[in-house]
Amino acid sequence: MSTKRYDLVDSGNGTRIPLDVRDGTLGPSVVDIGRLYAEAGLFTYDPGFKATASCESRITYIDGEKGILLYRGYPVDQLAEHSSFLEVAFLLLYGDLPGRDQLESFRRSITMHTMINESLLRFFNGFHFNAHPMAMLSGVVGSMSAFYHDTMDINNARHRDIFAHRIIAKLPTIAAAAYKHSMGQPFVYPQNRLDYCSNLLHMFFAVPSQTYEIDPVAANALDLLFILHADHEQNASTSTVRLAGSSGTNPYSAIAAGISSLWGPAHGGANEAVLNMLETIGSADKIPKYVERAKDPGDKFRLMGFGHRVYKNFDPRAKIIREMCHKVLAELGNNDSPLLELALRLEEIALEDEYFIERNLYPNVDFYSGIIYRALDIPKSMFTVMFAIARTVGWVAHWQEMIADPARKIGRPRQLYTGPDRRDYVPLDNR
Ligand code: SDX
Repeated sequence: MSTKRYDLVDSGNGTRIPLDVRDGTLGPSVVDIGRLYAEAGLFTYDPGFKATASCESRITYIDGEKGILLYRGYPVDQLAEHSSFLEVAFLLLYGDLPGRDQLESFRRSITMHTMINESLLRFFNGFHFNAHPMAMLSGVVGSMSAFYHDTMDINNARHRDIFAHRIIAKLPTIAAAAYKHSMGQPFVYPQNRLDYCSNLLHMFFAVPSQTYEIDPVAANALDLLFILHADHEQNASTSTVRLAGSSGTNPYSAIAAGISSLWGPAHGGANEAVLNMLETIGSADKIPKYVERAKDPGDKFRLMGFGHRVYKNFDPRAKIIREMCHKVLAELGNNDSPLLELALRLEEIALEDEYFIERNLYPNVDFYSGIIYRALDIPKSMFTVMFAIARTVGWVAHWQEMIADPARKIGRPRQLYTGPDRRDYVPLDNR
């Protein structure tokens, strides 16, 4: 409980309802409104949940004003510099950095779960070749609940752990199968000799007709991007996973719901939308025209990759990815990325513009990530799939935290009803 006190006072009759305040480790305290309806017959109203804490969590902390992102207390820039995606996955799932043996055992378990049931592979033949990979991903992940009946007791900690390892291990395999299906190429099985990101590249780009050499620069770039995308507290897709999971449904269906939410262009779908936007703008001389369109309230066009519900300063992940662009492109040997030049120029122009400055609209995680994915020959349609592979770790960590909470309740928000008052049925002849 906090030392702070808040009372809700009815200015009409002076009644006063004391509201408990709770302090977190970091960030804003919360006013507990649990008794508001019972004692005052009131709901709170916060469309888009701009100022509403939906849960208590110990996983990730964001300070939007200072541009801070902590995974279990560790700054994301330190993890980006010193850690690996699987080590970060262990941290987010279990709450602490693993010891050497723990990391080795976790890595081995993930490696041993990368294959998918052969029947799952046949699902892809049901999709047309031009099906969007996110449609295939959400469909196939949702169908995984039909395969693992032996470990679907969500109240069994061992089952929850097996689910976590299975889904984190299999996402790249399913993503690669979606890509191969869209290319009309044969599916490539995971190789246990390869690390997580090298395996993904091999499953994406290897073909039976020749040996595929994995470029360590590409594998390292993916690993870093996955660290940066692994979790982000109660974003739309994570909140979707929590709400879906709160009904007690199986975890594969909850993750499939998260994948569907991530796909939206206002969320994880923005990385694909940024590349489409940069290709539409085409050249730096056209930037002012599109910046004006983005500022026009009557124009639906927005600068994709700009703005954030929480960050009112630079998204720390965007900063790291922007620096990474130069390094990865140079190491991959294609220095002249006209798209990167265009993105840098667009950022420069936008950040000098009053409209963006007064609304605190800065580049977010999606603004630069697509430039790196493209440099790795990953097609635009797969960009959000890459985001989903990384964010699966965060979704699983939050799902586990929610399910393991003995005070867990099904999520069931209320509403402000502004529809018609009660009225009687009107027979057809009288209408
Ligand atoms: C992700 O939540 C997370 O943590 C998400 C994420 C994660 O890791 O999970 O960080 C990943 O989803 C990043 C965001 C990716 N989406 C985009 O890049 C799409 C473009 N951005 C916008 O759609 C928007 O900025 C949002 C959705 C990201 C945030 O929207 P908000 O918080 O609801 O803000 P808003 O729409 O109320 O905008 C406030 C003002 C409005 O202008 P006014 O009505 O005040 O005049 O800013 C304007 C908006 O019109 N605005 C933009 C803009 N984003 C906001 N104007 C032009 N271009 C933009 N991109």
